Amino acid sequence: MTSRDQILSLFRRKGGEFLSGQEISQTLNISRAAVWKQVEQLRDLGFEIEARRSQGYRLLNGPDLLLASDIKMELDGTIDWSVHCLTETGSTNQDLRQLAEQGVAEGAVIVADRQSAGRGRLGRRWESPAGVNLYCSILLRPNIPPQQAPQLTFLSAVATAEAMIETFQLPVRVKWPNDLLVGGNKIAGMLNEMSAESEQVHFVLLGIGVNLNMTAEQFPDDLRYPATSVLLEQGQPVERLVFVRSLLQHIDALYRIYLEEGFWAIRRRWEGLSDLLDCSVQVDLNPGIRDGTVVGLDEDGALRLQLKDGQIERILAGDVRVIK
Ligand code: BTN
Repeated sequence: MTSRDQILSLFRRKGGEFLSGQEISQTLNISRAAVWKQVEQLRDLGFEIEARRSQGYRLLNGPDLLLASDIKMELDGTIDWSVHCLTETGSTNQDLRQLAEQGVAEGAVIVADRQSAGRGRLGRRWESPAGVNLYCSILLRPNIPPQQAPQLTFLSAVATAEAMIETFQLPVRVKWPNDLLVGGNKIAGMLNEMSAESEQVHFVLLGIGVNLNMTAEQFPDDLRYPATSVLLEQGQPVERLVFVRSLLQHIDALYRIYLEEGFWAIRRRWEGLSDLLDCSVQVDLNPGIRDGTVVGLDEDGALRLQLKDGQIERILAGDVRVIK
């Protein structure tokens, strides 16, 4: 953590009370002049910091920046989070894959303010403008065989949906395999990737994109599906920091449940958040189309579709549309 982020973290802990320059310089083992320089840097970033000669500094308020020290502060749970925040990158999934291949531990997280080459499912792009949304990738190293890795997609969808419901009280629903919808419009998507040998998963990357403060004009014209954001649903901007902290806590809790109880506990929660069960749907397999009724999820996350002749087909990838 940089000195600047450490100072910010000390301010946050003080909850708006004064912190003397001496206390900061002793805690961080840096000079008073260096403290002043870091405080100036924070001001340049938009933090409002009051300085009083006899009392020191105090934080009055700040912008909705995503800083590792703020995200990590007092997160409880079992995963040892190691958070990296980037102002701009191509794709957080790509960055995290590089770190994972170098052997970094489970719990590494990359958050970006903007992505220039954000990736969506099926080779699509993920619109990632600066300063408004959440783009993050999370590294897990579960001790599971490769065929179970798709289960983690459902874990990330349930954790993201539950964090959104808790933080924003929005009626979020899941759509197989990896979309989150509000009122039928897409508000978040998951792009999970893995690395494995024949018997063993090396790592799974949970790539999560959530439209938080995106305005209607920021969505591209050529979107395949109608999309929305928390801002568009609620009419006011939300704090990204509050949400990302909640998301990590939900991932942590659900991952523990998954490791202790298995996929069935995740599947039950996913099914509770889904409107697809017993629905007539059309699946675009690209190429090919299947019509049928959704009868559930398989152990590996495949969608179980009952066709007109009564046969059950397992759908592993495709776009599902409910037929009214
Ligand atoms: C989809 O619904 O098509 C999946 C979208 C996933 C987007 C996220 S944003 C963070 C991470 N980095 C990427 O490049 N993609 C995922």
